[in-house]
Amino acid sequence: SERTLVLIKPDGVERGLVGEVIGRIERKGLKLVEMDLRRVDRKLAEQHYAEHDGKPFFESLLEFITSGPVVAAVVEGPHAISAFRQLAGGTDPVGKAAPGSLRGDYGLEVQYNLVHGSDSVESAERELKLWFPELQA
Ligand code: GTP
Ligand code: MG
Repeated sequence: SERTLVLIKPDGVERGLVGEVIGRIERKGLKLVEMDLRRVDRKLAEQHYAEHDGKPFFESLLEFITSGPVVAAVVEGPHAISAFRQLAGGTDPVGKAAPGSLRGDYGLEVQYNLVHGSDSVESAERELKLWFPELQA
């Protein structure tokens, strides 16, 4: 079994898609271990997206992710990391995400792509520590 960090980004919360995202996670058979609604400060946003520092969209990404409340969740199950990435769909909701995926069904623009999921075991470990420091591995 594996754990991954899932975020419902400010656009997903604002648009009332929390129930939809959580419902799909549950119906897939994944388990919610922790979940809360929270505001993201600049420091956490910078740490979370550190790999994108220096890219042209970095500043705009930080502004977006700190613009309103997000849902942060720890999701567990067999292959949880890739299972959630599959539910989310490719980064670009129109160019890459397949219909049937969350981004494919509900997104239009690459920045406003509704959800985040850790992309590897190493990322999941790093991100879970960052967002849920009180949780033990
Ligand atoms: P996350 O789960 O959020 O990490 O998405 P991802 O792993 O599918 O994509 P990636 O880590 O490459 O990019 C992180 C986030 O930056 C994306 O989810 C988008 O919100 C945003 N992003 C990525 N590429 C672009 C871009 O070209 N332009 C803009 N404006 N935003 C981008
Ligand atoms: Mg990513």
